[in-house]
Amino acid sequence: TTSGLTFDVRLSAQRKTPQERERLLGDPGFGTVFTDHMVTIDYMEGNGWYAPRLEPYGPLTLDPATASLHYAQEIFEGLKAYRHPGGEVACFRPEANAARLNRSARRMAMPELPEELFLGAIETLLRHDSEWIPSQPNSSLYLRPFMFATDVGLGVNHPSRSYRFVLIASPSGPYFSGGIKPVSVWLSDDYTRAAPGGTGEAKFAGNYASSFVAQSQAVQQGCDQVVWLDAKEHRWVEEMGGMNLFFVFGSGDEARMVTPALTGTLLPGITRDSLLTLGPELGFPAEEGAVSTDEWRRAALSGELTEVFACGTAAVITPVGHVKGRGTEFTVGDGQAGPVTMGLREELVALQYGTRADTHGWVRTF
Ligand code: COI
Repeated sequence: TTSGLTFDVRLSAQRKTPQERERLLGDPGFGTVFTDHMVTIDYMEGNGWYAPRLEPYGPLTLDPATASLHYAQEIFEGLKAYRHPGGEVACFRPEANAARLNRSARRMAMPELPEELFLGAIETLLRHDSEWIPSQPNSSLYLRPFMFATDVGLGVNHPSRSYRFVLIASPSGPYFSGGIKPVSVWLSDDYTRAAPGGTGEAKFAGNYASSFVAQSQAVQQGCDQVVWLDAKEHRWVEEMGGMNLFFVFGSGDEARMVTPALTGTLLPGITRDSLLTLGPELGFPAEEGAVSTDEWRRAALSGELTEVFACGTAAVITPVGHVKGRGTEFTVGDGQAGPVTMGLREELVALQYGTRADTHGWVRTF
């Protein structure tokens, strides 16, 4: 790697043929097709991180008593690799993913992975599998780094002493199959995603495990996605599904954006953070604050609230149209994607895909 790390490289004897690869890249969906290789790095307390390996993509063999299968010490990240017009392979703010992985690791009593190993893993995998980066618009190679406990044993008196970090890659089209059309949301009263002092701030597998029943309830209520409220009062808006939310008040020159502040129970999204910078540059002042469900409804009905959108790495920016909850139902604006939402999306996507100059130092080429 450029950082001088040495990877043990074992190339796949079963690489997909170019024809098979092109077929799979034709309509990859999200997270269902995987490249030929993966990176694996093992850790042992006392020894630290062992030599990183590039290996053929394939099943992991685990003892049934592997700690993470019982007590869920598992964290992950998500980022994308893009093919820029000049042919370079680029990622968007991968250092921010490395830092967040380590914040998640600290919360889950797991070891931190040095940034150079995180970036080196990406560089090595991309060097071998870059032909898996799709070339269609709105497509990219989704990278999924994750780390899990590998001690064998059922004791819960201490965290695992051994861990494995793995990086896999999945060519992906748009996250929501309907394309960029507004989603409807269900305000979750029966379930809570995160409580103060809990794990909501970490990109921890269990946060997603506990979300499925609420997401199913949203679908039963005729909505696309669940919206999470604060644990104490079920009054303050936190997130939508696995994405952060932005509220746009006013329109034209008067438009301004508010996103729920990172109170400790929200996932600190890198897209969210980027939009807090890009918004003001495009003329939309942006602030972190508190938005209640009452204000959401009141401002939507008065017309003061003009747009709402969700943001995340996977789906980038998704407009939110219709809102439903116990005893409430309303629509934001005309229920369609608004100009602030679409303007921000265009700007962000242009930076990521390399058609707009990177003035922020956010793009890293490999
Ligand atoms: C996101 O990128 O927005 C996510 O939360 C990733 C999701 C597939 C878990």
